[in-house]
Amino acid sequence: MRVLSGIQPSGKLHIGNYLGMMKPVVELQARGEVYLFIANYHALTTNEDPGALRDDTLDVALDFLACGLDPSTSVFFRQSDVPEVTELTWLLSTVTPMGLLERCHSYKEKTARGVAPSHALFSYPVLMASDILAYQSDLVPVGRDQKQHVEVTRDIANKFNNRFGDIFTIPEVEIRDDVAVVPGIDGQKMSKTYDNHILLFGSKKDTRSRIMRIVTDSTPLEEPKDPDTCNVFALYKLFASADETESLAARYRAGGFGYGDAKKLLFETLWDVLEPFRQKRESLKENMQEVENLLRSSADKARLEARRTLDRARAAMGLI
Ligand code: ADP
Ligand code: TRP
Repeated sequence: MRVLSGIQPSGKLHIGNYLGMMKPVVELQARGEVYLFIANYHALTTNEDPGALRDDTLDVALDFLACGLDPSTSVFFRQSDVPEVTELTWLLSTVTPMGLLERCHSYKEKTARGVAPSHALFSYPVLMASDILAYQSDLVPVGRDQKQHVEVTRDIANKFNNRFGDIFTIPEVEIRDDVAVVPGIDGQKMSKTYDNHILLFGSKKDTRSRIMRIVTDSTPLEEPKDPDTCNVFALYKLFASADETESLAARYRAGGFGYGDAKKLLFETLWDVLEPFRQKRESLKENMQEVENLLRSSADKARLEARRTLDRARAAMGLI
């Protein structure tokens, strides 16, 4: 089984990205061959700073390797190192109905937030379809907000296959329901855009201060509290063991335990769980040339796959 996912290098990653996307991908390495890429072509739809794009791309590479992506078994590359996907995007565009793209939420959401309404931003789901179809992916693990794009991919692939023959594997989407929406410090979905996030590799000071700012209700310290409506608890249970989670729930219900204590516990647990990742990241950072070599050799492998699919699609459409 081939598993594929991508992430945009649009700034530092947060624990919502980690739980919703990175951790599931790392775990899927046990079930199939993972293709993972850094979606820098996609990032061009919102990023206007070449230096920042370059830095953010390498930051994401370090983050994934630190969090357990195994480059000896997985194919981990930069999207732009496989230019074949842009040609395939054009071929797929020709079978993509305008209505399909007009229904996509992400274009409307992004333009409403002030992102320039470019053609690239509008046709973004076709590039994403090409990313998925070029490597004949079986499974695409993403957060809930990307589900519609995988459905669009399936529609495009079916249209193409019906018209030109069986060229593309129809991918399945995998959404992890337990972590589909990780809450931010204000209880809304965690997102850089809302500035309610906790960074995966933030400083100790910033991580602690963000956790201390998590919104809670005004139940007095001595009264019993409901763990199931508390934002601190919601984040704690995503990092703690089952026993630790049960024990904190009991302390909430017993009363005499304040949100400040719960926040301290969340900070300590989160900091400890992420400690091995931080150490790995520091050591990888010492040898960026090795990281660069790894991205390039993976891209060579990905290119061969993409080339094979592209040649078949070109031939099927009468281009060769
Ligand atoms: P952001 O909203 O911070 O800009 P992105 O849209 O770049 O994050 O998301 C990158 C990946 O992380 C996607 O697969 C997305 O579904 C996942 N993701 C982002 N935020 C969350 C969240 N709060 N909970 C679960 N998954 C998330
Ligand atoms: N659009 C995705 C995001 O913003 C990133 C992405 C690009 C992707 N191509 C993909 C994810 C292909 C999965 C498969 O998060």
